[in-house]
Amino acid sequence: MTTPDVLAPAELGPITLRNRIIKSATFEGRTPNALVTEDLIDFHRQVAAGGVGMTTVAYCAVAPEGRTEYGQLWMRPDVVPGLRRLTDAVHAEGAAVSAQIGHAGPVANAKSNGLPALAPSTSFNPMSMKVTKAATLGDIERITAAHADAAKLAIEGGFDAVEIHFGHNYFASSFLSRKTNHRTDSYGGSLENRARIVRETARAVREAVGDRIAILAKLNIDDGVPGGFWVDEAIQVAQWLEADGGLDALELTMGSSLLNPMYLFRGDAPVHEFAKAMDQPLVRMGVKMIGKQFIRTYPYEPLFMLESARQIRAAVAMPLVLLGGVTDKAGMDTAMAEGFEFVAMARALLREPDLINRIAADERTRSLCIHCNKCMPTIFTRARCVLVDRA
Ligand SMILES: Cc1cc2nc3c(=O)[nH]c(=O)nc-3n(C[C@H](O)[C@H](O)[C@H](O)COP(=O)(O)O)c2cc1C
Ligand code: SF4
Repeated sequence: MTTPDVLAPAELGPITLRNRIIKSATFEGRTPNALVTEDLIDFHRQVAAGGVGMTTVAYCAVAPEGRTEYGQLWMRPDVVPGLRRLTDAVHAEGAAVSAQIGHAGPVANAKSNGLPALAPSTSFNPMSMKVTKAATLGDIERITAAHADAAKLAIEGGFDAVEIHFGHNYFASSFLSRKTNHRTDSYGGSLENRARIVRETARAVREAVGDRIAILAKLNIDDGVPGGFWVDEAIQVAQWLEADGGLDALELTMGSSLLNPMYLFRGDAPVHEFAKAMDQPLVRMGVKMIGKQFIRTYPYEPLFMLESARQIRAAVAMPLVLLGGVTDKAGMDTAMAEGFEFVAMARALLREPDLINRIAADERTRSLCIHCNKCMPTIFTRARCVLVDRA
């Protein structure tokens, strides 16, 4: 089989992208009233004009208690007209647009939301300094249905795809991990039980939208947490999701926003900037004091997920998106040669939204992102690369 050209058009389920490059979700924090703003539209217009095949709007909570903070978009009829303006603007630049839908579960900020954070089991969230509530079977049913409703709203809003968030120890991902899931009912215990929620959610979304839009899911390969979800289990979950037929592609990710945040990113831990961004003095002080221990760091490497992602590649035939340290044409070509159908990029496109056009013009183009990760704490105000936009 010939290696695909990453810059040539490609099919993703029922849609065709102009190339195989997806802007990965970066919670934009540009929705102060949980509604679409011109600022948010402009952000995605720039990424689309910069040459990606598809941009991803993040993060669109499926329920109000599933937000990581109060101002975050959550999918309800009021949001549709704004989403329509956003998707029109992206389409006018020739790109497709996906909505990342999900529920933050234990990562949700209960204080900011004014609603309890839901998790598989009761636990303490150091970010909100609150205890999470164990989800009832009724909560699980409601949240699963809310994903299907959110996907239907995404269609009304003009999206080409949805990406279901099954990573980072958000609601679904926290069910997958033994470390965070201590349930004794049909959603806890065996891997089959812990994976029930991701399978039911993918199925519910597919049943709701058919093949009107593409459906992706962002799935952890591992949480980077001892005793948590690891690649052996991820292989089995990916195989089940493939067999269930609910998804058009899997985007592979890693880490836990709750228990090991830097594992997602690699590179420097912006402890000082994180502490500054915290709205509660106590949390701020805590992050300053124990930040370095809690926020463990890992050296940055190009294509830092490739080695683990290869194991999923070997186990399933369905389209896979390689993420993590993709910043140049050489990395994209490696991903294609290794059998991944798409690549996703986050920080490199925050740094330079026009990077893809520049790579297409000259494949020796190097990204200017230095993996300082100082964009991470900007999600609490307005996500941006601090080297280009100090607003
Ligand atoms: C500022 C910022 C915000 C992010 N927000 C999200 C998010 O809302 N949802 C998500 O799944 N991942 C989020 N991520 C993680 C990225 O999608 C991606 O997984 C990670 O940055 C690794 O990719 P990269 O090496 O191309 O940057 C965010 C990353 C950054 C830098
Ligand atoms: S702040 Fe800018 S340079 Fe630093 S990691 Fe984020 S995008 Fe890259």
